[in-house]
Amino acid sequence: MFAYVVIAIVMVAAVRADDPLAQAKCRSLHHVDVDAQGTQYTNDKCELDCVIHGAVNHHNMSEGLPCPGIPSTKNTCIGGKCVSPLHLGYIDIEMTSADLSKAATAYADVCLQNASTVVELPIIDRKTCVSCQTAIAPTSTHPTWRVVCQGSHKFIWKEESRVTFEVWDHVSSVKNNFAGGATLLITQLIEHHDSHKPIALPLARGDNSGKISVTVTWTPK
Ligand SMILES: *[C@@H]1O[C@H](CO)[C@@H](O)[C@H](O)[C@H]1NC(C)=O
Ligand SMILES: *[C@@H]1O[C@H](CO)[C@@H](O)[C@H](O)[C@H]1NC(C)=O
Repeated sequence: MFAYVVIAIVMVAAVRADDPLAQAKCRSLHHVDVDAQGTQYTNDKCELDCVIHGAVNHHNMSEGLPCPGIPSTKNTCIGGKCVSPLHLGYIDIEMTSADLSKAATAYADVCLQNASTVVELPIIDRKTCVSCQTAIAPTSTHPTWRVVCQGSHKFIWKEESRVTFEVWDHVSSVKNNFAGGATLLITQLIEHHDSHKPIALPLARGDNSGKISVTVTWTPK
């Protein structure tokens, strides 16, 4: 009786390891025979691994479509993973300092957008921004602000949100020069495990160069 059960389990495992649908799909994608061993759908069929002569070729399947492996949920395939449709959370920001190649009488601002839409620096139309600004630091190549943006917990954000920092040189009461900016997506921050850590972002598109040091913290809802 005991031996019988063991054999049954081994057979089930063998059937699982062999994925004829995956093999057929891989053959149609690669036009060659694929190894049965390891050729399989994974991540709720959002990823297809085709093994050819021992080498694994990954394919992202059903991009943007419901995960075929769990059709009853609203999850979709994004980049080979089955993800829930909306990841919401809170964003906390600290603008610490900058290192500039030329001294500036600098202040920084941040624009939070509830979308991943690409922005042109500097942002002219700030209608879609939730903003926060530092004070003007004394003229220096290392302006220091240590400003924590208040009130971010009043808003809930999508994980695809864009966070854009701008450094401005306060020339006079009527003139500010754009020193440079940096923009990132919360999703990138999470991929790099940089949530909650001080990061130095290179400044671009302005008439100065250098880096701005910030801490962006993502807290999933
Ligand atoms: C699948 O998606 C991931 C994440 O977006 C990406 O890094 C990878 O290059 C993609 N793979 C293929 C084969 O397109
Ligand atoms: C961002 O979008 C989500 C989902 O549509 C919404 O729940 C949230 O209130 C929005 N947040 C802001 C700050 O607009």
